[in-house]
Amino acid sequence: MCKKSNLGVLGAAGGIGSALSLLLKLQPHLVSEIRMQDIDKSMLGIAMDLSHINTPVTVQGYTGGTQLKDALKGADVVVITGGISKVPVMTRENLLAPNAIIMRDLAIACSELCPNAIIDIVTNPVNSCLPIFCETMGRLGTLNPTKVIGVTTLDVTRIQTFIANMKGLDPRQVTCPVIGGHSLVTMIPLLSQCKPHINFSENETEALFNKIRTAGDEVMKAKRGNGTAQLSMAYSAAYFIFEQLKAMTGKPDVVQCGYSMNNIHKTEYFSSKLLLGKDGIIKDLGLGKLSNFEKEKLNEAIPLILKDVETGRKFLKER
Ligand code: LMR
Repeated sequence: MCKKSNLGVLGAAGGIGSALSLLLKLQPHLVSEIRMQDIDKSMLGIAMDLSHINTPVTVQGYTGGTQLKDALKGADVVVITGGISKVPVMTRENLLAPNAIIMRDLAIACSELCPNAIIDIVTNPVNSCLPIFCETMGRLGTLNPTKVIGVTTLDVTRIQTFIANMKGLDPRQVTCPVIGGHSLVTMIPLLSQCKPHINFSENETEALFNKIRTAGDEVMKAKRGNGTAQLSMAYSAAYFIFEQLKAMTGKPDVVQCGYSMNNIHKTEYFSSKLLLGKDGIIKDLGLGKLSNFEKEKLNEAIPLILKDVETGRKFLKER
């Protein structure tokens, strides 16, 4: 029988963390235990509620500083969904100040309590949060860059849906990588690598780029100030985590897009197709062949990713 994993979900009282935990609770063949942690005191009740669902996955709630330690100790995978999310007139970058502190503190806690865990970061702005997390662990001598991944699967989920809707296809049959980062200009769907192969006109390509880049803001506006995307984000994080867990139990050829620290792209941190294995990332599979339009978009994205990484570093230096 495959080894099942203990997962710590941090920020689990929020809309993303609680929906994600529900999806994890429904996968007893991959997950043995979910430790739901949040500073919000309703956490214990939410965890109790989830624990009443009749699957063999154990659920435990944790709240407050000392209980964070209990949530992290011995975790195989830690998913970070906590932090502040956008309200209208904010960009993802505006979230850096509050969320950077959370990233730094959680990196310190993970270094102490679960330095070998795989860490999946959902909290925005992912482009800067992941560097802060990695470089804090680096300072503490606990960083394994193959085990810290920014979850950008929502962009993949969205583009596959938008392509399917545009072309009248079943969205489950469409695959399309998204590279770069998770912000307006840094996300680059590789339409030329879409499967099945589809020819897109210039107008269709522009429309899809625009739709994926503004999707988060469109959801936020439609929610009328009541938060940003949660259900599609929770689904996407769960999808990524299930693939990761399958790879951890020995399934070969698991490839997912994710934002990670690496030295094959000009930016040090980049989202690309990653081959996943027992201990996180086995290999960055690179970009493959890009169309001229995609190359142009990549050239626009690189300086912005570099800037996001530097902003994260600057925050760390000032603390
Ligand atoms: C999204 O893409 O929906 C999320 O990153 C939330 C946001 O800030 O837009």
